[in-house]
Amino acid sequence: MQKISAAITAVGGYVPETRLTNFDLEKMVDTNNEWIISRTGIEERRILKGPGLGSSDMAVPAIEEILRKKKLDPKEIDCIICATVTPDMVFPATANIIADKIGATNAWGFDMSAACSGFLFALSTGAMYIESGRYKKVIVVGVDKMSAIIDYTDRATCIIFGDGAGAVLLEATEEENYIKDSILKSDGSGRQFLHMKAGGSVKPATVETVLAKEHFAYQEGQSVFKFAVKGMADVSAELLERNNLTGDDIAWLVPHQANLRIIDATANRMGLSKDKVMINIQKYGNTTAATLPLCLWDWESQLKKGDNIILAAFGGGFTWGATWVKWAY
Ligand code: UT7
Repeated sequence: MQKISAAITAVGGYVPETRLTNFDLEKMVDTNNEWIISRTGIEERRILKGPGLGSSDMAVPAIEEILRKKKLDPKEIDCIICATVTPDMVFPATANIIADKIGATNAWGFDMSAACSGFLFALSTGAMYIESGRYKKVIVVGVDKMSAIIDYTDRATCIIFGDGAGAVLLEATEEENYIKDSILKSDGSGRQFLHMKAGGSVKPATVETVLAKEHFAYQEGQSVFKFAVKGMADVSAELLERNNLTGDDIAWLVPHQANLRIIDATANRMGLSKDKVMINIQKYGNTTAATLPLCLWDWESQLKKGDNIILAAFGGGFTWGATWVKWAY
């Protein structure tokens, strides 16, 4: 019997209209445009504004773009996997809310919490549902409304993060262009460096936790930076080696957009010139689970069938990983 593989057959994306520039941030905290650009590469981020709007409101237009492009009836979708750390609510899963909003009445789904590696973890999971032969059309969406959990008086975190959503459609293929291989890793001992202190079952929300600002993202930037540089570069190199690939074989590196210096280190380690690296951190900042699909969205028109693409991420957990995709269209 022919092996069933999973191919990415469409991409959609969404970023909110409102831009928060470095110059806007200069008026909010003690920072400046030069510092932010030289330390991170970020010039502006998008922010989802408006009462009652959450992550699902960005995921929906990203997925609807896919439905339009592929002329799909939402009822044809079998499963929606939503990677996010900023779900609309603690429960039910944002995937359920998205399915309801787009009319995907035959889909089941769930959320995946792996911070900045969420999209990679969800992509790998979705691919396995296709490979098993059980499902034909799986949507993987990475979305985060980071502005909902950022303290805009904390200059160490508010300059980095932004809001956005990106999605892909996975379908079965018997061709050679599919999601070829993944190496995924996690190490919970890294949680001390990047987490949200309250709001979970260990420390439920109280007046005190709100006053202590414990419902915002807490990050020890320098420590995360050190682990991220090593983690993302190591896992990408390991993936190339295990598949007998070199930098020359790679058309594109799609790195998590957390910091331009981490991206540069990973590209150097893989022997890739900058023109093969997708970088849009300057306009969106770090959108957590959305960075990788937003890169694919921005570069879609430049991708060619058969291109070897390496997606790589590192984030809270710690979680990290790399995936080799042969582009299918
Ligand atoms: O996506 C999830 C994973 N997250 C990451 O990968 C993020 C990894 N970390 C980073 O990207 C970087 O650590 C940051 C961008 C967060 C910070 O850059 P850094 O080069 O590590 O700066 P630092 O924290 O070592 O701070 C250097 C100096 C400090 O001042 P002193 O102590 O040297 O006087 C900070 O107080 O810069 C100061 N500083 C700032 N100055 C101006 C910190 N934030 C700012 C700011 N504007 N926004």
